[in-house]
Amino acid sequence: MDGAMDDLREQFEAEARAAGSLEACKSLRDRWLARESGIVTLQIKRLRELPKEERPAYGQAVNRLRDHVERRLEELFAKAKAAAATAEFLDVTRPGFPYAVGHEHPIRRLQFEIERIFVAMGFRVFDLPEIEEEYYNFEALNMPRDHPARDAQDTFYLGASKLLRTHCSSVQVHAMECMKPPIRAVSTGKVYRRDPFDATHSPMFYQVDVLAVDEGIHMGHLKGNLDFFLRQLFRPDIRMRFRPGFFPFVEPGAEVDISCIFCDGAGCGKCKGSGWIEILGAGMVHPKVLRMSGIDDARYSGFAWGMGIDRVAILKYGVNDIRHFFESDLRFLSQF
Ligand code: PHE
Repeated sequence: MDGAMDDLREQFEAEARAAGSLEACKSLRDRWLARESGIVTLQIKRLRELPKEERPAYGQAVNRLRDHVERRLEELFAKAKAAAATAEFLDVTRPGFPYAVGHEHPIRRLQFEIERIFVAMGFRVFDLPEIEEEYYNFEALNMPRDHPARDAQDTFYLGASKLLRTHCSSVQVHAMECMKPPIRAVSTGKVYRRDPFDATHSPMFYQVDVLAVDEGIHMGHLKGNLDFFLRQLFRPDIRMRFRPGFFPFVEPGAEVDISCIFCDGAGCGKCKGSGWIEILGAGMVHPKVLRMSGIDDARYSGFAWGMGIDRVAILKYGVNDIRHFFESDLRFLSQF
């Protein structure tokens, strides 16, 4: 009798070794312990058919088998569950979760786009400090201390002679100090003015400033440079016009308009019916500015111009409020 139980036990062991998964454990349990037809259950049922004197020994043997099967099944289930948990944890085939990838800020992208256009024309890019000496921001650009133009650019001063630059035009001075003509220089970056923070103003915004100094540079070069640049930046059919304008560091100076990119010059709400949009300031470098930076103004001349980058972004991307660019709202930024 014990021999038959030993055979069953061996058979169970062989099947147990093959039962690795939870599914296999479950069918193993059903096969051996199911209430009606499990192998062990059937053995227990046989007890009643046996002669009385054989029952105790048989009963003990079959109980031992049942205990063994139950204990082993418990172990097998625990092992299979642990394996299933680790398998889930290590499932390298599982598809990844979607996650947000950052990208360039629209102003930054425009800044680089502008720099690339000038690098292609042989200009050197200057990365200049936002905290600037008063001298580079004003004096060297023909704006002495009592010059009224300083009021127009309400300045954040940082102590006696340092300030947050109010424009990028200091690149003119830095470039002339460290390069010999021919000079081709461009600089982009943040500038600061005591302006309100509203739909069309910000106390911090971005500019690009451009300088070319060489023998025989004249207004035609300035126009040619701007024409080429603005066509690249906006679109090839853009037109421009010069109006007289005053900046202390250029003579003559000009305000430059482009044909309205919304109505193509026909006149619309965006250009207030004029067909033109004011976009930048420009002019021929003032002889005084050349001289102050050590350039012989009898031999050399130059052109310079400067433009707000945020303003271009507003036009190019059709944004109606400059604050959107600086409020870090992903609902806005992720559109670019
Ligand atoms: N710096 C001037 C401004 O901030 C723009 C400018 C640059 C004008 C160079 C003329 C020449 O408005």
